[in-house]
Amino acid sequence: MRSLTLLALSGLAVAVSTPLYKNSKASVDDRVADLLKRMTIEDKASQLLQGDFSNWINTTDGTFNKTGLEWNMKYRASQFYVGYPTNWTTISHGIKIAQDYLVNNTTLGIPALVQSEGIHGFLIPNATIFNSPIGYACSWNPSLVEKMAKVIAREALALGVNQLFAPLGDLARVENAFRETPDCISCTELRYGRVEESFSEDPYLTGEMAYSYVKGLQSRQVAATVKHFAGVATPEQGINTGPVHGGQRELLTTYMPSYKRAIIDAGAYSVMSAYHCYDGVPAVANAYMLTDILRDSWGYKYFVTSDAGGTDRLCSAFNLCRAAPIDSEAVVSMALTAGTDSEMGGGSYNYQKIPDMVKAGKLNQSVVDTAVSRLLRAKFALGLFEKPYQGVADDKAKDYINTPDAIKLARDLDAESIVLLENHNNVLPLKKSAKVAVIGPMGHGYMNYGDYVPYLSQYRGVTPYDGIKAASNSTVTFTQGCERWSNSESGFPAAVAAAEAADVAVVVVGTWSRDQNELWQNLNATTGEHIDTSTLNLVGAMPRLVSAVINTGKPTVVVFSSGKPVTEAWISQNATALVQQFYPSEQGGNALADVLYGAVNPSGKLSVGFPTDVGTLPVYYDYLNSGRSWPNPGRAYSNGTLVFGTNYVLDTPIPLYEFGYGKSYSTFHYKNLKLSKGRASAEDKLTVTVDVTNNSTRDGSEVIQLYVRDDIASVVVPNIQLKGFSKVLIKAGETATVKIPLDVADLGLWDIRLNYVVEPGNFTVFAGSSSKDLRLNSTLTVQ
Ligand SMILES: *[C@@H]1O[C@H](CO)[C@@H](O)[C@H](O)[C@H]1NC(C)=O
Ligand SMILES: *[C@@H]1O[C@H](CO)[C@@H](O)[C@H](O)[C@H]1NC(C)=O
Ligand SMILES: *[C@@H]1O[C@H](CO)[C@@H](O)[C@H](O)[C@H]1NC(C)=O
Ligand SMILES: *[C@@H]1O[C@H](CO)[C@@H](O)[C@H](O)[C@H]1NC(C)=O
Ligand SMILES: *[C@@H]1O[C@H](CO)[C@@H](O)[C@H](O)[C@H]1NC(C)=O
Ligand SMILES: *[C@@H]1O[C@H](CO)[C@@H](O)[C@H](O)[C@H]1NC(C)=O
Ligand SMILES: *[C@@H]1O[C@H](CO)[C@@H](O)[C@H](O)[C@H]1NC(C)=O
Ligand SMILES: *[C@@H]1O[C@H](CO)[C@@H](O)[C@H](O)[C@H]1NC(C)=O
Ligand SMILES: *[C@@H]1O[C@H](CO)[C@@H](O)[C@H](O)[C@H]1NC(C)=O
Ligand SMILES: *[C@@H]1O[C@H](CO)[C@@H](O)[C@H](O)[C@H]1NC(C)=O
Ligand SMILES: *[C@@H]1O[C@H](CO)[C@@H](O)[C@H](O)[C@H]1NC(C)=O
Ligand SMILES: *[C@@H]1O[C@H](CO)[C@@H](O)[C@H](O)[C@H]1NC(C)=O
Repeated sequence: MRSLTLLALSGLAVAVSTPLYKNSKASVDDRVADLLKRMTIEDKASQLLQGDFSNWINTTDGTFNKTGLEWNMKYRASQFYVGYPTNWTTISHGIKIAQDYLVNNTTLGIPALVQSEGIHGFLIPNATIFNSPIGYACSWNPSLVEKMAKVIAREALALGVNQLFAPLGDLARVENAFRETPDCISCTELRYGRVEESFSEDPYLTGEMAYSYVKGLQSRQVAATVKHFAGVATPEQGINTGPVHGGQRELLTTYMPSYKRAIIDAGAYSVMSAYHCYDGVPAVANAYMLTDILRDSWGYKYFVTSDAGGTDRLCSAFNLCRAAPIDSEAVVSMALTAGTDSEMGGGSYNYQKIPDMVKAGKLNQSVVDTAVSRLLRAKFALGLFEKPYQGVADDKAKDYINTPDAIKLARDLDAESIVLLENHNNVLPLKKSAKVAVIGPMGHGYMNYGDYVPYLSQYRGVTPYDGIKAASNSTVTFTQGCERWSNSESGFPAAVAAAEAADVAVVVVGTWSRDQNELWQNLNATTGEHIDTSTLNLVGAMPRLVSAVINTGKPTVVVFSSGKPVTEAWISQNATALVQQFYPSEQGGNALADVLYGAVNPSGKLSVGFPTDVGTLPVYYDYLNSGRSWPNPGRAYSNGTLVFGTNYVLDTPIPLYEFGYGKSYSTFHYKNLKLSKGRASAEDKLTVTVDVTNNSTRDGSEVIQLYVRDDIASVVVPNIQLKGFSKVLIKAGETATVKIPLDVADLGLWDIRLNYVVEPGNFTVFAGSSSKDLRLNSTLTVQ
């Protein structure tokens, strides 16, 4: 269908037919086909390369370079990155100039995808910072996560940004631990720095979080980019971008489900291929992952981009081609052909070779057309041609960014994410009248944010001291005690004196990361992208500071402010209470105070298990049958007594805190687990119901977790797997009947021939309060 439009041109009215691809009523496939046939090979290559904002805007002084814009849009018109720590108007004006230029001053008028970061907030100074993904996954509250993503989208769109590189579908599988004695070195692997960016060790929880993020973001016409496809987060030695070992069954069983949930079920408009190699094949050129699985099996229609500099690695890291200079034609032949449709910057811009390669017969035109079609399909589906620029007027931006509702959401989500690990003698919640000594390097001074926040963010936000002071109506002091990066104990006497003068001490210690500028300047940090560790003990003087405060005899609440489980087993025993707050939001201190004083009853559950020691990794709960079968732990007591076991000789393979664990100020009793059908076929969808009573005197929320065991299977499967959950607020003394859907089709396995099958037989369905605290069970017989 063609529509006719009247255009006034030089005073003459002439009828011009609007090309089909500009007709918003035509189907996306027709628009793609129509536009594709109008494009030269140079236009096409330009749609497969990422440009950069700094090519036409000086991000320091905001000046515009017209030649730079023309050059960028000639060669890299598809998309451009704007993740610079500059002011809002510089960004929005620079984007508007570019979209106007593309629409009005180029022959085809194809608008660009405008890209930035956003895993826990839109990456621009003074936008709302939410807590880090490993943290907000502990909320087990997908609807709050979806709301967060909507806020992130609103803030991005207000400045004209329409694509964010988020969320991660990667699993934080095996990367956390602590050691009791710093001199014993027996680390297995996985001290990976990007645990904080991931959601969980568990495929199901990761999938639900990623799904909610994509849904929320794309409901506001901002494209999500699910990354890093696939299976990147368990690198050898825990070292960033290192090789990942595993087979096809592990890939399909463990790694793929969370990506599929985010990419296919949520309908993500783009995917980012990963830096690593899996089983010896680089992800960026892995035709099995990018074509056989993603396209042929799942039917994905949109595009895959490489990560920054990721394509060059085929030559420079993996030695699949000549590295000096980079063999760009080889890169194109491998990456584009395998299914990485578009190339990000940060490397050699190998895809610029596409026109020459096609002309020379070295690259099939149809490969290019397929890639361009996928990219254009995303642009049409997103509505870019109808609304290329959705930025708001300069003086209106503050009505969209970091508004009171966003700040409140950051606080609510953060508070729901905090996990209460220990509460000896019910020392928590604190009384408002208690004199509190806040102690520790993460207690005040700067915000302890995770990575992927803009430059200098640490100076903006509510610290634990700020939050506790605001919540208390008694004396609250702050004493740093030590620097996070130092062994010096010179601050200890002041910290001890502060604890002694108070009724209760709150000691905040942990790990730290850096903003996106400082991180890559290699300033000291202990977590974050490319910051990997060999142990997960507290660094420097921090453990000794905790010990010195505890030894005052004052009730001591220890708070781990961290990007991964930093567990010193003795703190669990010796501290009066232990609270886990993964890297906070800008409202982190208020959220912490909400929990400490009981304005919010803790309901967070661990998204990742805590091992007793780095040498016991991995401790994920869904180990394969035969794993961890005969634990016979030994132990080295702090008084020097050694008790010898066999696995392990002086430790245990069982996690200190398992996946799904977290205490509340309430207690919950489970009864009456029922399946809507006890016998079912593979096509059936069941409802599992369980009655949960809050048998305490305080209202509270419980996360009811559904685990399933395949009693007898034809291959070795995980001992149990999370298949559903529901977070429910239950008033004191009341009982809730909780309904959780269970789709029998999700109970399958990848058989000996790698076919997905739901095998007939018995499955045990458990309802639990954690992956270990399984309260009730019932048998489901699949026919
Ligand atoms: C951007 O502006 C700053 C400050 O005026 C100047 O020092 C810098 O050289 C400019 N950068 C470029 C790439 O022109
Ligand atoms: C943003 O930065 C540009 C360039 O440095 C400057 O000209 C402009 O006044 C700034 N705008 C605001 C609102 O701060
Ligand atoms: C403007 O861009 C052109 C083309 O990239 C470049 O050659 C020139 O140096 C830039 N000018 C400034 C002032 O940055
Ligand atoms: C962020 O907000 C602060 C406080 O209002 C202001 O001083 C600063 O200039 C803002 N930063 C940017 C980059 O706009
Ligand atoms: C260019 O196109 C935009 C759409 O991006 C339109 O709103 C704007 O008015 C046009 N500007 C000029 C100068 O033609
Ligand atoms: C776009 O074209 C218009 C004339 O149609 C011209 O005035 C304007 O300068 C051009 N913009 C750029 C950035 O080249
Ligand atoms: C502290 O809170 C209590 C209970 O709300 C109140 O009675 C008391 O007056 C408050 N004290 C101060 C110093 O604000
Ligand atoms: C760690 O980084 C901070 C700057 O953020 C610096 O002041 C401090 O000296 C560094 N410490 C060490 C031991 O590197
Ligand atoms: C923990 O408490 C035990 C028992 O009171 C004590 O022996 C031990 O020294 C304490 N550990 C630390 C590191 O303070
Ligand atoms: C050390 O502590 C363990 C565990 O509390 C206890 O069984 C043992 O008797 C203690 N040994 C000494 C010498 O105090
Ligand atoms: C509440 O239920 C829990 C779990 O069943 C149980 O351990 C606890 O004793 C009960 N508390 C009360 C007060 O009944
Ligand atoms: C399966 O479960 C049902 C119900 O509990 C039981 O009667 C049956 O014996 C089980 N079958 C097998 C093979 O264990």
